[in-house]
Amino acid sequence: MEKLVIEGGIPLQGEVKISGAKNAALPLMAATLLCAGKHILRNVPDLRDTRTLIRLLENLGAVVERKGDSLHIDTTVLEHGEASYQLVKTMRASVLVLGPLLARLGKTRVSLPGGCAIGERPVNFHTDGLRQLGAVCTIKEGYIEAEAERLHGATIYFDIPSVTGTENLLMAATLAKGMTVLKNAAREPEVGNLVDMLNAMGAKISGCGTDVLTIEGVAALHPADCRIIADRIEAGTYLLAIAATGGSGRVTGCCPADLPSLVEKLRYAGLKITEEADTLAISWPGQQQTLLGVDIKTAPFPGYPTDLQAQFMALMTLCDGQSTVHETIFENRFMHVAELRRMGAKIKVDGRFAVVSGQGMTGLRGAPVMATDLRASSSLVIAGLAATGRTDISRIYHLERGYENLVEKLTGLGARVWKEQE
Ligand code: EPZ
Repeated sequence: MEKLVIEGGIPLQGEVKISGAKNAALPLMAATLLCAGKHILRNVPDLRDTRTLIRLLENLGAVVERKGDSLHIDTTVLEHGEASYQLVKTMRASVLVLGPLLARLGKTRVSLPGGCAIGERPVNFHTDGLRQLGAVCTIKEGYIEAEAERLHGATIYFDIPSVTGTENLLMAATLAKGMTVLKNAAREPEVGNLVDMLNAMGAKISGCGTDVLTIEGVAALHPADCRIIADRIEAGTYLLAIAATGGSGRVTGCCPADLPSLVEKLRYAGLKITEEADTLAISWPGQQQTLLGVDIKTAPFPGYPTDLQAQFMALMTLCDGQSTVHETIFENRFMHVAELRRMGAKIKVDGRFAVVSGQGMTGLRGAPVMATDLRASSSLVIAGLAATGRTDISRIYHLERGYENLVEKLTGLGARVWKEQE
């Protein structure tokens, strides 16, 4: 197994280009299952998670070819409609094939994802929503079994806006008979990317970017050529890494409008953030590099993203004074805290609340730490870059799920970072 070694304390400088968004690529790849034909997806990041979904599509009978940053996906022949436990257990987003397979084949069997490092993460919104669309949906031997000759439209209300729940029901409803209305739907930019792709395939969806999505079912869809949006979480992670090291730089190829709450919080902490068309530039307004404590409460878009909570906490340990975090989305998303403490951070946790006593920009020391999930791991990378001395991060396969060319990108910003065998 590989580990990541960081010799910290070097201010990151320069420019880093952001890749396509993992959490947009996955639903768009699943959407290719909705109709037979040859689809093209551009700007698809080459990550462990996208490779897992390629394996799942191929297992279903699709032919997938990567050409540069594009995926050519031919879904003309589907041999069966089953997503096995072997594939779903390695990536719970595999459940995204449920809606499209049911809509196209009238029958599907998808392994129920188990629990996960950050919380219980049930999929009841997905299954209840499909039932409201007319499917017979049962859980048998660890699998979701769903069947419907043809789905019909319905009005579905989400108790909590769910990103993949909204995406699964959107995809299923495109081919349903009649009108579907999704209320309190997720407004994340990745959902917007999926709506754009589905409309390019011939679907009739309105309300993009709002929490009410209206889908007028159509009889058939056709393949599309679509571009994956930039990864806002990757962009935010690099902004936070540059800030934590006292550096300055430009994060290019991103969409500043997708990161409204992070930009405001960084400005509040004392950083200068300049927004350009597809670039966020970060620098320090004066000679002094000190940061104010910040309070963060995670929330569905446009609120502060849970996927950037752990990374901001690494920065909080370097602020002057106290910061707080209220994690409202997942019940167990503080796994990074114990590892940050090993690097000298002072953090108290009470349920979904954390209080971070910042110790200034020189407050962290390198240490051996362990990655526990994707975003927790990236918070350890930020802490390692900011710390004095050497940090060894084990179990970096978590990082490889979501950060394309991490070592190369950080090296390009001047970091001393490399992989080693454990
Ligand atoms: C998506 O997960 C992302 N994954 C997650 O990214 C992200 O953390 C999360 O949205 C929140 O933004 C992908 O897009 C592939 P949810 P998802 O359904 O869709 C509850 C990363 O690091 N809920 O929006 O699974 C749930 O427990 C990851 O890239 C139900 O109760 O999350 C949570 O409290 C990790 N029942 C809330 O809704 C359901 O059926 C929102 O979760 C579904 C969700």
